[in-house]
Amino acid sequence: MEPRFLAIFLVALSSPLFVQSLVRHYNFSVVMKNETKLCSTKSFVSVNGKFPGPTLYAREDDTVIVTVTNYVEHNVTIHYVVSDICVHGIKQLRTCWSDEPAYVTQCPIQTGQSFVYNFTITGQRGTLLWHAHITWLRATMHGAIVILPKRGTPYPFPKPDKEKIIILGQTTNVLLTANQPIGKYLIAITPFMDAPIGFDNLSSIATLRYKGIPPYTKTILTNIPPLNATPITKTFTDSLRSLNSKTYPTRVSLTIDHSLLFAITVGLNPCDTCITDNKLVSAINNITFLMPTVSLLQANYYNIKGVFTDDFPSKPPMVFDYTGTDQPANLHTDNGTKVYRLNFNSSVQIVLQGTAMIAPENHPFHLHGFNFFVVGQGLGNFDPEKDPLRFNLVDPIERNTLSVPNNGWIAIRFRADNPGSKKNHFFFLSNF
Ligand SMILES: *[C@@H]1O[C@H](CO)[C@@H](O)[C@H](O)[C@H]1NC(C)=O
Ligand SMILES: *[C@@H]1O[C@H](CO)[C@@H](O)[C@H](O)[C@H]1NC(C)=O
Ligand SMILES: *[C@@H]1O[C@H](CO)[C@@H](O)[C@H](O)[C@H]1NC(C)=O
Ligand SMILES: *[C@@H]1O[C@H](CO)[C@@H](O)[C@H](O)[C@H]1NC(C)=O
Ligand SMILES: *[C@@H]1O[C@H](CO)[C@@H](O)[C@H](O)[C@H]1NC(C)=O
Ligand SMILES: *[C@@H]1O[C@H](CO)[C@@H](O)[C@H](O)[C@H]1NC(C)=O
Ligand SMILES: *[C@@H]1O[C@H](CO)[C@@H](O)[C@H](O)[C@H]1NC(C)=O
Ligand SMILES: *[C@@H]1O[C@H](CO)[C@@H](O)[C@H](O)[C@H]1NC(C)=O
Repeated sequence: MEPRFLAIFLVALSSPLFVQSLVRHYNFSVVMKNETKLCSTKSFVSVNGKFPGPTLYAREDDTVIVTVTNYVEHNVTIHYVVSDICVHGIKQLRTCWSDEPAYVTQCPIQTGQSFVYNFTITGQRGTLLWHAHITWLRATMHGAIVILPKRGTPYPFPKPDKEKIIILGQTTNVLLTANQPIGKYLIAITPFMDAPIGFDNLSSIATLRYKGIPPYTKTILTNIPPLNATPITKTFTDSLRSLNSKTYPTRVSLTIDHSLLFAITVGLNPCDTCITDNKLVSAINNITFLMPTVSLLQANYYNIKGVFTDDFPSKPPMVFDYTGTDQPANLHTDNGTKVYRLNFNSSVQIVLQGTAMIAPENHPFHLHGFNFFVVGQGLGNFDPEKDPLRFNLVDPIERNTLSVPNNGWIAIRFRADNPGSKKNHFFFLSNF
């Protein structure tokens, strides 16, 4: 019998949504929604009253136009009513105004106003995530964007018989071959946290039921790995590879124009209103990002002075045993709105080095408007002599979000082929 395929995260090609048009229009209304679960009703900000939000469908090379209108009047502690959408990890070539956090390339959408997101999908397929980019709104305003291959182009894997989207908050396309004995199978999801900080440790389960199995059979639970199982997580992430086929080659740069080392720390900044007179801040190369009041891209495009400076350091200002026990005694960080400029189309390598300053932690990291290749990772301090020898420059995975290992490092490469503006080519990085 032929193996049956099920691609989680993709949707059926036969869906009536797939019309011939190459421009796909969507309306997103930001509205309040009440939802009752386990007898408790919560009110939250939603897109079109849906949670998760609506799924966007497109083919590679299509243009997607999303008109977002904010109908929510929310008295929040931030200055005004906000909502803005970020399409996570779409390589928005030349349409970078559409893919950035509020105040970085774009101002938030205020109550009663609309914004048209207009982007073309280039060189990408698979399922990605879109989400609101203002603080807590992303918790309830998110959904999937499904990018199918160009019309007439096959999938880079056997065509799935059925496709299903499961939103976890991170995008990974999974191909499941349903070739096991007829039965009911458990899908269990837990968070991973190997730092000593509080987190929501709830796990979720779902079942995958083969045809012929009655719906109400008993679900047998399983033992899941401990939530801080670093070796298991590392073995799994190390095992991931890209396709690197003739049709979908892995185009990782073998030469590097900009080599950056980013040390990620948690430090202190003075705070008059805090009990301890200090507040915890995160920093890259000892710079804590200060949110500008004018968007960076606007400031760059219109040459508005005083919004940012060009001196983001390419390496930590002070070399120390990043993951060792002997940490700097002075925990204060510098702050500023700083950018690092790259020449258009230059190849860039960034080594993200975790540190043990205050609280070693597993840091999420995301580059806006870029995918990158993860060429290496390890525990402890990055060794610039030895570690590059073990880099995978053949079939590394291509991602838009990663996690810097707790007390370890990760190396990424990408080509700076998505200019921040047509006049000056730059991009900036901030941690969140
Ligand atoms: C979006 O809303 C506008 C105005 O109400 C309407 O004309 C248009 O047909 C809608 N588009 C879609 C794709 O629903
Ligand atoms: C949500 O519930 C509250 C309290 O019952 C009600 O005042 C409000 O109108 C409801 N909102 C929506 C969008 O249904
Ligand atoms: C929001 O704040 C405005 C101005 O302070 C006030 O007039 C309004 O009543 C507030 N709305 C709600 C729902 O609290
Ligand atoms: C989307 O962008 C394209 C290319 O810049 C432009 O031709 C088109 O008019 C835009 N559409 C909308 C609805 O803004
Ligand atoms: C989750 O956290 C609660 C409260 O801190 C704790 O009692 C429980 O044992 C934790 N569960 C797991 C699986 O770690
Ligand atoms: C970070 O910057 C602050 C303020 O300039 C300085 O006092 C501190 O030594 C720096 N720390 C590191 C690790 O570079
Ligand atoms: C930025 O750094 C300066 C100098 O250390 C400090 O006085 C100021 O409070 C910092 N600003 C913020 C917003 O943390
Ligand atoms: C960028 O650089 C690569 C490698 O040198 C080259 O193949 C490509 O044509 C360049 N792209 C542009 C737009 O200049």
